[in-house]
Amino acid sequence: MPPSRIGILGGTFDPPHRGHVDLARAARAAAGLDRVLFVVAARPPFKDGETHATAVQRAALLEATLADAADPGFELSRLELERSDVSYTIDTVDALAERYPAAELFFIAGSDTTDELPQWKDAAELARRLSFIVNLRAGEPRPQAAPAGFRITFIEGDVPEVSSSELRAKLAAGEPVGDMISPATLRMIEDRGLYGKGTVLSVPSLDTIAQVNGKGVARVRERAPLPSEQQVDGIDRTVPFEALVARITEQLEAREDDYGLRHSLGCADCCAQMALVYGLDESRAYLAGLLHDWDRCVPKPELIAEARALGFDITPEVLAAPAILHAHTGAAAVAAAFPEIAREAPEIITAIERHTVGVPDMGPLDELLYVADMIEPTRRSPNIADLREMVGTVDLDALFMQAYQRSMAHLVRRRKVMHPDTIRVWNALVMRGEIGQDLRPEERAQLPKLLIEMDPGAMPEDLENT
Ligand SMILES: [Fe+2]
Ligand SMILES: [Fe+2]
Repeated sequence: MPPSRIGILGGTFDPPHRGHVDLARAARAAAGLDRVLFVVAARPPFKDGETHATAVQRAALLEATLADAADPGFELSRLELERSDVSYTIDTVDALAERYPAAELFFIAGSDTTDELPQWKDAAELARRLSFIVNLRAGEPRPQAAPAGFRITFIEGDVPEVSSSELRAKLAAGEPVGDMISPATLRMIEDRGLYGKGTVLSVPSLDTIAQVNGKGVARVRERAPLPSEQQVDGIDRTVPFEALVARITEQLEAREDDYGLRHSLGCADCCAQMALVYGLDESRAYLAGLLHDWDRCVPKPELIAEARALGFDITPEVLAAPAILHAHTGAAAVAAAFPEIAREAPEIITAIERHTVGVPDMGPLDELLYVADMIEPTRRSPNIADLREMVGTVDLDALFMQAYQRSMAHLVRRRKVMHPDTIRVWNALVMRGEIGQDLRPEERAQLPKLLIEMDPGAMPEDLENT
């Protein structure tokens, strides 16, 4: 039976602690709730987006807290994390009303919230659709009157006052936090090095790369070389990395405008750093980043003509967004211009080909390049700050899915045409990540393959061997 009285306990949970759990229990008892949803805020509107752990990390910590609380009425909600915009309560209420049309909704809050209620987005609408449960601190008097129109139940009692900032300070100083943080949560904080002093794994110096020496060329020379001696079947397959990079950079300078060049160099550096974090070959990752937008400079009519010559189906969706073709034509152009790369590191060509739309079974370098393209240091969108922080804290599949999700949301928000393959890639990601959880590992591994086989005609021609 779906829950009929649902409490919403929203917050940044930075970190989640006993005060949250006790408040949920008290609210549940006071209002006869049969479910309390702990809604993790991605970017709270009043705190200016400042949190100390990423949204993904905070959700994982909350999950651990709720597992320790072992209350079947408590549930973690990622509702707000699935939106890339600022979190407003009204949006959460809309989403919950859609999911639980018959349920009565209660918003659980601290007493400092009461005065702010009229300033909330769509306050009148909220007052109509929500009841509020407000927790009073020990000894705090009941307000004379609730803000006009709001239905508020006050609870006063045993909820301990816990300050998240004090907890964070204790964690950073290595001081004990008593029973304020549940054991599993504390373990996770320690394992992942959260709230400590610079212990969170992240890509180093990501924000500084763009400023390095104008166009960043100096950094290129610092890059580690490819293995310098490679004997395969008795043939010397040495690829002189530094000379190769110098040749590529020279050509890129001629092909790309100033921003394009800085983006390619930034992406290359970001790829190399992420490769270190995820245990991929640093030099190959660097080359993939450097070369990924090789054909970004090609005018659209030429892109279409080239893609057609390569045997691509130019569908109406492609004509509506021909820029995606720079990945496919670029992969072929790079393979032709640098045959040693196509021969020795074909995965670079494949990653270039997959960096716009992707394919259902993305490989590690494909995923890495896709993410790096989005978060490299010349990108200035505030929506990617937490994606940068996620590097090293979640696995590459999860990171890629987050990035892909943002691209799709961007297309929807801007009302842009979505290539049919985008939907196939998305379905593959969801099946691998969520639906796949219920399957045996062998079955899970088959999912992307099944998706490809379901509709082979729709896949772009594989350029790996060109
Ligand atoms: Fe691109
Ligand atoms: Fe790019």
